[in-house]
Amino acid sequence: MGIVYQEKSEIFQIHTTNTTYMMGVYAGVHLQHLYYGRKLTDPNCAYLFPRKETPAVLHSMKRGGVDFFGTMPFEYPAFGTGDFRGTALTVRSQGGHRICSLAYEGYKITDGKPRIPGLPATFGDNAQTLEVFLREEALNLKVILRYSVFDDSDAILRSTTVVNEGQEKVYLENVLSACIDMPNESYELTTLHGTWARERNMVKRPVMPGKFTVDSVAGRTSHENHPFMMVTSPGATQKQGDAYGINLVYSGNFLAQAELGHLDNLRLTIGVNPEGFEWPLSPGERFDTPEAVLVYSAEGIGSMTRTFHNLYRNHLIRSPYLHRERPILINNWEATYFDFNEEKLVAIAREAKSVGIEMLVMDDGWFGHRNNDESSLGDWFVNPEKLPGGLKQLAERINGEGLKFGIWLEPEMVSPDSELYRKHPDWAIQVPGREITMGRHQYVLDLTRQEVCDYLFDSIASILHSANIEYVKWDMNRSLTDIGSAGLDSVCMGQFYHRYVLGLYSLQERLVQEFPDLLLENCAGGGGRFDPGMLYYSPQIWTSDNMDPIQRLLIQEGTALVYPLSTMGAHVCVANNHCNGRVTPLHTRAHVAMAGTFGYELDITKMSQEERTQCAQFNAKHHQYSHINREGDYYRIASARENGVYDCWQVVGRGQTEFLLTYVQVRFESRSKRLQLRLEGLQADALYRLSGTEQVYSGDALMKAGYPMDMLWGDNNSVLLHFEKLPEEAGKE
Ligand code: DGJ
Repeated sequence: MGIVYQEKSEIFQIHTTNTTYMMGVYAGVHLQHLYYGRKLTDPNCAYLFPRKETPAVLHSMKRGGVDFFGTMPFEYPAFGTGDFRGTALTVRSQGGHRICSLAYEGYKITDGKPRIPGLPATFGDNAQTLEVFLREEALNLKVILRYSVFDDSDAILRSTTVVNEGQEKVYLENVLSACIDMPNESYELTTLHGTWARERNMVKRPVMPGKFTVDSVAGRTSHENHPFMMVTSPGATQKQGDAYGINLVYSGNFLAQAELGHLDNLRLTIGVNPEGFEWPLSPGERFDTPEAVLVYSAEGIGSMTRTFHNLYRNHLIRSPYLHRERPILINNWEATYFDFNEEKLVAIAREAKSVGIEMLVMDDGWFGHRNNDESSLGDWFVNPEKLPGGLKQLAERINGEGLKFGIWLEPEMVSPDSELYRKHPDWAIQVPGREITMGRHQYVLDLTRQEVCDYLFDSIASILHSANIEYVKWDMNRSLTDIGSAGLDSVCMGQFYHRYVLGLYSLQERLVQEFPDLLLENCAGGGGRFDPGMLYYSPQIWTSDNMDPIQRLLIQEGTALVYPLSTMGAHVCVANNHCNGRVTPLHTRAHVAMAGTFGYELDITKMSQEERTQCAQFNAKHHQYSHINREGDYYRIASARENGVYDCWQVVGRGQTEFLLTYVQVRFESRSKRLQLRLEGLQADALYRLSGTEQVYSGDALMKAGYPMDMLWGDNNSVLLHFEKLPEEAGKE
């Protein structure tokens, strides 16, 4: 790790263990991006500067006596003074002009990493931070570009702060977190897309001239798009080639853009979506952007993935459950939907206990008079018809059966048919005089208002104090529309979306502070808000409402491209699956769910004895192996998305002493009876035994020749294998 400023050449070098990021100050004014890639060991890189991505024949521009081109690789490009690509900063002055000209002013290198006020961000003491100061002279704005590195990670963490040091109010129309201008090398771009029940599927295409945007204006990260982009060199694989990943620690409207300019320069930008955004900044005020995470790997996509996983496990997720074995839970949503009562839940708990399940989670429908999704959100008190003894009695009975107890909440919402809405109609997001757009029969509460957040916190706290509740599933089932708040004046309405996210973060912060031992699982109608921002508050997030293992392969592959397996909420469902009707073997459903947090979402009282016996075996296996998934290194061996036939991933435990291999065959094909799956991350000179057998393999052979995987019978079949390293003497005969 090391951040270096070379005074003579005015170059900044940010080094991680394997990467270098460089910027230089051009003509004393323009901060220019120079390089991001493999670690440069030669400190004398001044020849790289300035980067000549300028047209051969066009005239340059001139300002303050300095010649420049608008096509230069600006480190933080601003709108209005000659750079005609997508820029990172647009500021409107009182006079209505949008001109921003940033000039280099100075820098500071410090140990540690400052917090970003009100926003989730990576943290840790083993960090160093560079702040580069730019100034917009006419408006007297100070722009601080922040770059942090940890000594145990190849990631670079960026954020931007704008401080109004002038005399007049300005309006920030766009303030992105990060921009990287890099020479294009026939790169390909991968992004994550989907919809409800099909979140975060990987989509790859060549980088083409023009702008390619992924964004959200839904007020949450969304099911459809994801705040992540990956740029790879042609033909890059899991093991080789360049991979650049960029992710945003944010849970609201975002923009991620890849723009290939006419000089074959690729500009990547990421940050809060400027659409619908405007932030008035009075003299003395500051605006802080969310954090962008940059990862570069010269050794393929897999190593980029593992850098993200380790960063998030070591420096983002705070929950004490991060390293703890999570209870195997059973959730009653798909078992009962709204049709349950205390007796039914206790019956499920009893059967669940008999197979080794450890927690019962009561999902939607326990409060107000909610018997379908048309009422009662906001009325966070028990429905006595369903739960006559209240939460306390239910929790005691569930605990009495030997299970922990958890509940579902959807704090951000209000049903028009609720006591809360009748009392506080103005607490719903709305524009006066307009009908509020309904989504799933509900409105969204205005989290920009302190009194609303206070009410929600008090309601949640009193529920959690009222009974032994050890887990909360925090759901959010609709997007934000009709943006308007009785608490904001018209000039500030452009702040709404971001303030909503800040309100959400402050609420979850209060929750985790007040209940540090609570296991919190975020959720948004499935995986509509699965992002690093939410991971700062909850160690796991419900990945998707779709638990069909075959559809889940795609969802979990895309999710695990960036996020650790331990963060992916994953349950065993019934066959026929409730989202697509697919029938799959129980063991395949279990093997796929075991890649995540593992639990069940079915009516166990309706399972046959044989199925229950199988569940008991899965649970025992999960206990034996969950530490590997939680703490280990993830390797994607094969993708059914690419080959159409089988999916395979491997997780190597800490110290390379054991590993798990999951193989799912989605389609039986008449082909060779045996595959050779080349494994990764093992000790070449170690011997590994396949658990439950006497079969021994060397790490070297498994990585080079591969593991011989026999064809399984039928479609949607799977195996989960565990290998253990033999003591060193074992190999010496
Ligand atoms: C959406 C969630 O993703 C489901 O798991 C379930 O909790 C429902 N909401 C309940 O309304």
